[in-house]
Amino acid sequence: MTYIFAHRGASKYAPENTMASFQKAIELNADGIELDVQLSKDNIPVVIHDENVKRTTDGKGLVCEYSFEQLQCFDAGNWFSSHFQEERIPSLEEVLIWIKSTPLKLNLELKNTILPHYGMERLVYDLVTKYDLNDRIIYSSFNHYSLRELQRIDRTNEIAPLYSSGLYEPWNYVRKLNTKSAHPHWRTLNASILKSFTKHGIKVRTYTVNDPKKMRWLFDQQVEAIITDVPDIAKNVLDGVHHHKPSKILTILQKLNPL
Ligand code: G3P
Ligand code: MG
Repeated sequence: MTYIFAHRGASKYAPENTMASFQKAIELNADGIELDVQLSKDNIPVVIHDENVKRTTDGKGLVCEYSFEQLQCFDAGNWFSSHFQEERIPSLEEVLIWIKSTPLKLNLELKNTILPHYGMERLVYDLVTKYDLNDRIIYSSFNHYSLRELQRIDRTNEIAPLYSSGLYEPWNYVRKLNTKSAHPHWRTLNASILKSFTKHGIKVRTYTVNDPKKMRWLFDQQVEAIITDVPDIAKNVLDGVHHHKPSKILTILQKLNPL
């Protein structure tokens, strides 16, 4: 069974990394959500993708230049649609409290490749532990030193390196990180690489898969999970539901004889 993770929430249908997109993910029957974490100026873990608030809010400047209270003044939904203009940049704590009441798994991506966000690993881990959610969390990052730090903090933390280029024998690299999870971009995968991951007992959760044909292939390969902006489409593909519209003649025949 392949799990479906909603990328930044169900980000095709609601503004990414907001409570609305997470809520939408559960409505669309996703198994989990993926979100991005950074630190505010006053060291509060906040959920936002870009280092700059410009693209996804009505503000400008770096996330780390604002206190959490200041970040709350920005509108994080109106850029997507006026329907979402009440949305704010969530704190990680707010998401954790919400997720507690759901069965969702949580892929927590630490966004610390461009800016270091020193100490973010400990702050995030302490929050996850406060809400007793450790068993439901997969930590990922493009910064693999950060993942090693999470392992040092607690060796039971599940860590998954993100990567997007053609690593040579990536399963060996993943093993060197002392983990059994990898989060590669789908373009880096082929049947032979997936087979080697499986042989070494490594779970693959690949991103960002929005094309039904690619989804189907990945489901056939039995990857552990796909991370997608469109969890509803992924669910349908997984259930073997075809999305093409029935032909006009078929629709007429079905109306004439609904059985
Ligand atoms: O975690 C998968 C994916 O989110 C990684 O890339 O840039 O969308 O955060 P990005
Ligand atoms: Mg991400």
